[in-house]
Amino acid sequence: MNERADGTEGAGSTSQPVRHVAIIMDGNGRWAEQRGLPRHAGHRAGLESVRRVIEVCLQEGIHTLTLFAFSSENWRRPKKEVSLLMDLFLSALQGEVKRMQANDIRLRVIGDRSAFSRKLQGRITDAEQQTRANQGLLLQIAANYGGRWDIAQAARKLCEQVRDGSLAPEQVDESLIASHLSCADQPDPDLFIRTGGERRISNFLLWQCAYTELYFTSRLWPDFDQDAMREALNDYAGRQRRFGKTGAQVKGGRTPVS
Ligand code: IPE
Ligand code: IPE
Ligand code: MG
Repeated sequence: MNERADGTEGAGSTSQPVRHVAIIMDGNGRWAEQRGLPRHAGHRAGLESVRRVIEVCLQEGIHTLTLFAFSSENWRRPKKEVSLLMDLFLSALQGEVKRMQANDIRLRVIGDRSAFSRKLQGRITDAEQQTRANQGLLLQIAANYGGRWDIAQAARKLCEQVRDGSLAPEQVDESLIASHLSCADQPDPDLFIRTGGERRISNFLLWQCAYTELYFTSRLWPDFDQDAMREALNDYAGRQRRFGKTGAQVKGGRTPVS
């Protein structure tokens, strides 16, 4: 198993680096409803929070940010909302490329993109291509993503290799499965944030979050600003990550202040 508390470079104190933050951006609909606005107004307002969080990641030298934008279960929403979400995704992809280039951000979309319109798929590929050489921050957008889908697609690839005779079942272990998951080349998330008050994972990065520190806030996503992001990072800095060891064995983790 990969042990991530190995002190390699990252944001925060060297003893508690933050290399990868994963966020469930929840609460857009309620934010809009509270204002008597249609739900999609909340989704649009949420885009501003994405920019704010990226700003903090850039300032803090965080290498990877994974944002849950649309789950494999979100197709169950009213058709109108789904279609407005797709429109927003399309326009955001187009509108944000310039900003990503200016800030050295590489975009990657994770999830089953085959369900998207051809136009959207094309725009995703274009945005990924245009930003591919950037090295500052890897921005992963999870769209039509499900943690179970991710594990299933990895299993399918391995089964195909077994069928072809290039892999023996005995060779299948945790690291081989992990290497076929969507963000195989990235460290597992150090910090998972969910806004909007719900305390669940909703089929996000199930495998990858095995040892991730979880942070829940009732703040709705469109209200999540730089200060809220820093608050989450500070909370994380007070955690002691043990990865199965005893507290005494782990050096560097601070005792949380209660
Ligand atoms: C999260 O906000 C955005 C998506 C799921 C696309 P919601 O739309 O789930 O907002 P609430 O939870 O209904 O307030
Ligand atoms: C999770 O939010 C998915 C995204 C934020 C994209 P949901 O609002 O869909 O989650 P549930 O249905 O409340 O678990
Ligand atoms: Mg929600």
